[in-house]
Amino acid sequence: MNISIRKIFLSVIFICLCLLFKEGIVMAEKNFITLPKPKETSSFSLEKAIAQRRSERTFINKELSLAQIGQLLWAAQGITGERNGFLLRASPSAGALYPLELYVVSKEGLFHYLVSTHQLELWIREDLRQALAQAALGQDFIASAPLCIVISAVYTRLSARYGQRGIRYAHMEAGHIAQNIHLQAVALGLGSVPVGAFVDKKVKELLNLPDEEEPLYIIPVGYIK
Ligand SMILES: Cc1cc2nc3c(=O)[nH]c(=O)nc-3n(C[C@H](O)[C@H](O)[C@H](O)COP(=O)(O)O)c2cc1C
Repeated sequence: MNISIRKIFLSVIFICLCLLFKEGIVMAEKNFITLPKPKETSSFSLEKAIAQRRSERTFINKELSLAQIGQLLWAAQGITGERNGFLLRASPSAGALYPLELYVVSKEGLFHYLVSTHQLELWIREDLRQALAQAALGQDFIASAPLCIVISAVYTRLSARYGQRGIRYAHMEAGHIAQNIHLQAVALGLGSVPVGAFVDKKVKELLNLPDEEEPLYIIPVGYIK
């Protein structure tokens, strides 16, 4: 009798541990979203994208697909090559030091773009778009975009080699990344707008950015009217 009670007890513990372990894996899978492989060709010409790009602020209530989100992030910072064992990205970077980080703010929450694996990592499971619009001086179109890409800078990655000039380089690089996003958005049939007017401290706090990171740029993207 004692032995069978012990057996049942051990079995229950075993099942509980299995369930816990399984939940952990499920949680881990939910916290990382693998983005679809980006396309490197399309019938939409670069010239057409340049000609058609405008700052768009009137978004319709339509979600973007994971493929579209992945394509925008790939255009910004996707891995596009390799040199001497170092991975190179879609946008140029001084000394290939890559000081910029990308975040996605959507209805589902805040995600960090993991460049090397082309994944999104969930940081905050909460819709921060309204608060982001407030941090950007009440520019309401930010809250109506299905997606905002935020570019932040880790200046120390550049200043360690280039000193003060590294700050300039980081800003130049943010421009490269942003333009790739704007043009890719047009080629995907979407619209976007550069947003530079926001309170740095508020955006940094809202996104819970690490101490060494400074937000530089917000890019709302979506289908337009
Ligand atoms: C660095 C920078 C910051 C900008 N910040 C904002 C902004 O905070 N809000 C906004 O509505 N537009 C912003 N814009 C968009 C400009 O208003 C827009 O690019 C300009 O009017 C030219 O129009 P176009 O982009 O359609 O050619 C910004 C543009 C740049 C380049």
